[in-house]
Amino acid sequence: MTETNVPPVEKVPAFHAPRILNLAASAWLTTASVGQWVFGFYIISFYGKSTAAGEFEKWNRVLPHGYVEGDWKGNLIVGLHVLLAAVIVIGGPLQLIPALRAQFPRFHRLLGRIYVTIAILVASAGLFMIWTRGGIGDSTQRISISIQAIYIISFAVLAIRCARSRQLEKHRRWALRLYMVVNGVWFFRVGLMFWILVNGGPAGFDRETFTGPFLTTLSILTYAIPLSLIILEMYFFAQKNQGKVFTIATSALILIFTVIMGIGIFGATMGMWLPRLK
Ligand code: HEM
Repeated sequence: MTETNVPPVEKVPAFHAPRILNLAASAWLTTASVGQWVFGFYIISFYGKSTAAGEFEKWNRVLPHGYVEGDWKGNLIVGLHVLLAAVIVIGGPLQLIPALRAQFPRFHRLLGRIYVTIAILVASAGLFMIWTRGGIGDSTQRISISIQAIYIISFAVLAIRCARSRQLEKHRRWALRLYMVVNGVWFFRVGLMFWILVNGGPAGFDRETFTGPFLTTLSILTYAIPLSLIILEMYFFAQKNQGKVFTIATSALILIFTVIMGIGIFGATMGMWLPRLK
């Protein structure tokens, strides 16, 4: 047996465990921020450019029901959904950078108000789109993402309420929960591209109908019962209780998901977002 430098969990000094948790959370947030900014860049470059040029039919290269000739109300809602999405996708990580919050509290408050308002608008527009325009996928996917829209709207209201009543610890928790569910659509894409990369192609679903057991599972775990929220609750619990074993296990889980997410971000950038900009 070879010697390793990693001590068993029970030998990790208690005061190291919170540090490890912080490191894992920072690694996760840094990776997620990069991936979300790439997604935001794609939204602005693809939808922003085509919308500014009045070339709305270009939306349909990606969204089968994006632009419908003559339906100006529906098209406006789709346009608002995707363009406002860029603001929250790019702005979300900015809200979580501690130095930015400490140095520019007014900016944090302003962006926070914009973030919750846009999150509610984007989720409401998404609900309208999914139930009036139809889309690819099956009813489990539609119901799951609709449940997520309800989470987004509810958490946004709770985050802003707690901020207004100066319940700052509660505000922090609801804002982080909101961030997780707002990014559900991003987790879905990154999870999908991770799966396609590790399987060397689509597996467990039909690419034409966009249905199958893998997509059913992914939509449930990213939208209806989000894994991201479960891990976030574990993170909160570990922060509060600081039990060594639980804290180290939570840190390990966060790190595993950071690696999965990193691979998925690479897959989504190279296989989904960049090719659409050509
Ligand atoms: C709040 C977070 C959300 C963000 C950031 C977001 C972002 C986006 C983006 C960027 C697209 C364009 C697709 C692409 O180019 O890959 C899109 C499409 C779409 N979104 Fe959202 N979205 C969010 C929430 C929702 C919710 C909650 C729903 C439904 C309840 C929804 C329903 C849809 C639908 C139906 C499409 C069109 C898909 C198609 O035609 O196949 N979105 N969204």
